[in-house]
Amino acid sequence: MDAAIKDGVDIISMSLGGTIHDYRQDVIAIGAFSAMEKGIFVSCAAGNSGPESETLSNEAPWILTVGASTMDRSIRVTVKLGDGQEVNGESVFQPKNFTSEALPLVRPNGSGSLYQTNCLTPAMNGIVNGKIVMCERPESGPRVEIGSTVKDSGGAGMILINAEQDGYTTLAEAHVLPASHISYNDGQKIFAYFKSSDKPTASLIFKGTILGNTSAPTVASFSSRGPSLASPLVLKPDIIGPGVSVLAGWPSDVETSHDQSNPTFNILSGTSMSTPHLSGIAALVKGMHPEWSPAAIKSAIMTTSNIACNDGKPVMNELHEPATYYKMGAGHVNPEKASDPGLVYDISADDYVGFLCGLGYYDKDVEAVTRRKVKCADVAKVNQSQLNYPSITVYLLSGEKTVTRTVTNVGGGKEKYEVKLDVPKGVEVSVDPEVLEFDEVNEKKSFVVSFKKKEEGEDDFVEGEMKWVSDKHVVRSPIIVTKDIYD
Ligand SMILES: *[C@@H]1O[C@H](CO)[C@@H](O)[C@H](O)[C@H]1NC(C)=O
Ligand SMILES: *[C@@H]1O[C@H](CO)[C@@H](O)[C@H](O)[C@H]1NC(C)=O
Ligand SMILES: *[C@@H]1O[C@H](CO)[C@@H](O)[C@H](O)[C@H]1NC(C)=O
Ligand SMILES: *[C@@H]1O[C@H](CO)[C@@H](O)[C@H](O)[C@H]1NC(C)=O
Repeated sequence: MDAAIKDGVDIISMSLGGTIHDYRQDVIAIGAFSAMEKGIFVSCAAGNSGPESETLSNEAPWILTVGASTMDRSIRVTVKLGDGQEVNGESVFQPKNFTSEALPLVRPNGSGSLYQTNCLTPAMNGIVNGKIVMCERPESGPRVEIGSTVKDSGGAGMILINAEQDGYTTLAEAHVLPASHISYNDGQKIFAYFKSSDKPTASLIFKGTILGNTSAPTVASFSSRGPSLASPLVLKPDIIGPGVSVLAGWPSDVETSHDQSNPTFNILSGTSMSTPHLSGIAALVKGMHPEWSPAAIKSAIMTTSNIACNDGKPVMNELHEPATYYKMGAGHVNPEKASDPGLVYDISADDYVGFLCGLGYYDKDVEAVTRRKVKCADVAKVNQSQLNYPSITVYLLSGEKTVTRTVTNVGGGKEKYEVKLDVPKGVEVSVDPEVLEFDEVNEKKSFVVSFKKKEEGEDDFVEGEMKWVSDKHVVRSPIIVTKDIYD
């Protein structure tokens, strides 16, 4: 990263991860700090350890931490069962000459060490030869490799069925045999048919690219989740962007994991695929506003993001439940709006130093991150909730808490904003003042958000949102009130 900084880049996009939850050790956090100080925007992959919570990497507040979402495209393979039922799955391998006739359907059913339900036992020849084989994918486990064992055993085709935790997240991949990757729920339908039929059959019908899925974007099952362990009161991830079945150029001298043919394109899934989308969008925003700091660009991306999917309903997770902020961050990136946010929550390098001191780090540990002399005794400490972040997370067991935020007017000049609140359950929230009137560009205004616990709820955390609304702009911040993590 140091070399890139010396070369004078504007944006750094990192897809490396780690599980070190301490900014003093995490090298990426340290390199990114130097970059941020020089005005370089750093976006990093949140990690592919979902769907469990607290699985993030690259969670430092001076980094844009990027989760992964689905797109409205599927590369469809329909599974048609002997009784006429159809379910839709995906594979990028779309053979033109595969038989559309029904073939016998078989399910390795785990008698002894042979014939495991995940099809990962070799030599299944006896039972799979010439048949379509149902294989249960282990949690976030291998996929193309499963197809290889089925193919090597003589299987004609494969239906790859998600584990329960992976829900509806299916991937279009370069399978080595005719295959369809289907959701957990569709898998249960096929199992029910299989049980009920004397002579179960299925056929695979290749339908190519289908666009316009109105439930997209959804959070991908593998996308790592918050809360952050290193600073739980700074919401992470920050944002989600397209990261499932992403088609891109591929260095032709690098083999794909399952193919010796050195293709010049490949299709991959992961937060390493969504991160470059966000880096590109940051570059566009930076191009339009070269003077904006990395924090201002991040704020613009977060406060203009979408929390509704293409059909207007809330963005969902892999189980098709509404996604919480710990899963999607502020929301799904909206590139067009990001260039014109109206207001930004800016943060200086010194604020982050105050934040590190506020975490209780020793001077030498803060210096390990900043790579310059720091004396926390002389620094204005910044509590996590008080960092001028575009989202607000407060720890509140009982009583009251207040946080202060400062917004900078980056809109047209004269503009009047009013606050609109969606108040989290069981909490009273007020904002003072409720109106912000700006006369000129770059003018700053501060306001105080007060939280008061009204009633004891069951939930570990409750969610709401705060919007500053003018005639031209809506500046949205997620709010989380938690009782689950320490201050
Ligand atoms: C389909 O075409 C591929 C590529 O030409 C070939 O390798 C394969 O054997 C063919 N399969 C059938 C069932 O004809
Ligand atoms: C496993 O599958 C075989 C072949 O389909 C079948 O005969 C056997 O009853 C199945 N066993 C279980 C426990 O389902
Ligand atoms: C849209 O995507 C979801 C995955 O989130 C999938 O379950 C659903 O079947 C897709 N709908 C269509 C019409 O392809
Ligand atoms: C920071 O948090 C500590 C511990 O809760 C509290 O005593 C202190 O007043 C807070 N500082 C600010 C500036 O809010």
